[in-house]
Amino acid sequence: MKVLNFGSLNVDYVYNVDHMVRGGETLASGGMNIFLGGKGFNQSAALAKAGLEVYHAGQIGEDGLAFLSACREYGIHDDFIRKTEGKGGHTIIQIDKTGQNCILLYGGSNRTITKEFVDEVLPHFGKGDFLVLQNEINLLDYIIDAAYERGMIIALNPSPMDENLDSCDMSKIRYFLLNEIEGAQLTGEQDLSKVPAKLLEKYPDAGIVLTLGQEGSVYMDKEQTVRQGIYPVKAVDTTAAGDTFTGYFIAGIAAGDPIEKILDTAAKASAIAVSREGAAPSIPCKKEVDAFR
Ligand code: RIB
Repeated sequence: MKVLNFGSLNVDYVYNVDHMVRGGETLASGGMNIFLGGKGFNQSAALAKAGLEVYHAGQIGEDGLAFLSACREYGIHDDFIRKTEGKGGHTIIQIDKTGQNCILLYGGSNRTITKEFVDEVLPHFGKGDFLVLQNEINLLDYIIDAAYERGMIIALNPSPMDENLDSCDMSKIRYFLLNEIEGAQLTGEQDLSKVPAKLLEKYPDAGIVLTLGQEGSVYMDKEQTVRQGIYPVKAVDTTAAGDTFTGYFIAGIAAGDPIEKILDTAAKASAIAVSREGAAPSIPCKKEVDAFR
């Protein structure tokens, strides 16, 4: 069994602010850092740090070479990371005093993926291999169809939510991992307690993971419902907490662990990530997660 993550790679320009800048306001930031991130890359980092063999497919721009050395550092296979001309994906992230973030995203090379590139990557994977996706790259609908055809098990984090998801055949998704905002948008349901069941009604063979911030998370499939609380920590930077959860969740599923154990491990891993600065660098390895109280 192999894991392929077809996903974004973003350079995150992170500014520490007193409060999120408002329209018309000029605000001085108290500090600035540059981190490697992107929902795709963060999830690959989490999968690799959780101990899985992961292949990342995606595109970097002229400013993205640092991703290749990070792949070597984290043990991510970079055979399917392509360098393109022009600007890579990047973000401007504000982190306020409570550790909350606000992200402005520029897709760059994440959004120029071609069908030829997808057709080159997918034949290296087959039945029973996992495919992890988010919504920061183009051609998601094409990738889902082609991977499903090959018998891959597809996990989707539909983030950020936008109209590109409308063309995706969601019945081909085996695991949905979404937060409360995405859950409400995807189902039209404002009562969050009803979101997993509503999604399950539409996609009865799927496993649904809904993360609920301070309220923890809930997993639901046709056989079981499992709830998990959070491990409270002092929040320094919430960036990549969801990606950490996703990576550790898929790693647990791939290992065949029971859902209770998977959610508990994912909650610990994301608590550690929240207590540290940055996206990919904040994600803990398995040893750190196991040692967490
Ligand atoms: O989920 C966090 C990530 O979202 C950041 O690393 C940023 O790049 C954005 O894509």
